[in-house]
Amino acid sequence: MDVRGRGALITGASKGLGAALAYELARRGARVALVARGVDELERTAARIRAAGFEAHALPADVGDKRAVHGIAGAAAALVGPIDILVHNASDLGPTPLRLLLDTECEDLESVLQTNLVGPFRLTKIVAGAMAMRGTGVVVHVSSDAAIAAYPRWGIYSVSKAALDHLNRLWAVELASTGVRFVSVDPGEMDTEMHAAAMPDADRGKLLRPQDVAARVARLIEDAERIESGSRLALAELP
Ligand SMILES: NC(=O)c1ccc[n+]([C@@H]2O[C@H](COP(=O)([O-])OP(=O)(O)OC[C@H]3O[C@@H](n4cnc5c(N)ncnc54)[C@H](OP(=O)(O)O)[C@@H]3O)[C@@H](O)[C@H]2O)c1
Repeated sequence: MDVRGRGALITGASKGLGAALAYELARRGARVALVARGVDELERTAARIRAAGFEAHALPADVGDKRAVHGIAGAAAALVGPIDILVHNASDLGPTPLRLLLDTECEDLESVLQTNLVGPFRLTKIVAGAMAMRGTGVVVHVSSDAAIAAYPRWGIYSVSKAALDHLNRLWAVELASTGVRFVSVDPGEMDTEMHAAAMPDADRGKLLRPQDVAARVARLIEDAERIESGSRLALAELP
C-alpha cells in the first residue's frame, strides 16, 4: 500500500514502538492519528511529528474503555480522513512485577483482555466494514513471542496476545477478498518502558531500538498486498 495521503490510526502511540511507528508512517506521507491515555506525553509526541513537518493528531483515549472506541474512530476519521491503516499497538502487561497464575487476580486478566484483545476487536469492528466497502485497508495487530512460548509469570499478557493472533487469522478469513489485509507482528525485544517494567534487569544494549522496528513495520504495511492476509510475522525471523 502506498501510505501517502492515507489515514492511519495507531493505538499506544505516545511512546515506545507506537510513537516511533507514528513518526515513521507520517514521514512516509500518511496522515496519522495517535491514541494513548496520558494526554501530555501524547500531545508532545504528536507535536514532535508536526515539528518535523508531517501530519499528526493526538487523540487521548483508553482503548479498553468501550465507551471510548466509537469516539476514537470518529474523531480520527474527521481529522485524517478514512482510516486505511489501523495499528493495534497499545498493550497492558498487567501488574508488575509479573506474577504466577496462582497469584493473579481474575480482575487483572479481565483488565488486560479489555486493553489487548477486546479493545482491538471493537475498533476493528468499527473501522473494517468501511475499509471493506472501499476495498482497501491494512490492520496490524502487534503481538509478542509470549503469544507462542509459555513463559512463567507472563500468563495473562501471553493469553491476550495468543488470542490476538488468532483474532487476526479469523478477521483475515472472514474478510478474505474484500481488499482488507490483516497481519500480526511480533516486534522482538525492544528498549521501551514496557520492557523495563517486565524485565528491569535486562541488558538494554542488547534490545532493539523502537525506531528500527518501526521502520520495518512501516515497510510491511507498504508491502501488505504481497503478504498473505492473516499471517503472523516475527520480525526477527524475516530477512
Ligand atoms: N517492548 C518489547 O520488548 C515488546 C516485545 C514484544 C511485544 N511488544 C509489544 O509491542 C507493543 C508496543 O510495546 P512498547 O514496548 O512500545 O510499549 P510502551 O513503550 O510501554 O508503550 C505502550 C503505549 O501504549 C499506551 N497504552 C497502554 N495502555 C493503553 C490503553 N488502555 N489505551 C490507550 N493506550 C494505551 C501507552 O500510553 P498510556 O500509558 O499513556 O496510555 C503507550 O503509548 C505492545 O503491543 C507490546 O505488547 C513489546
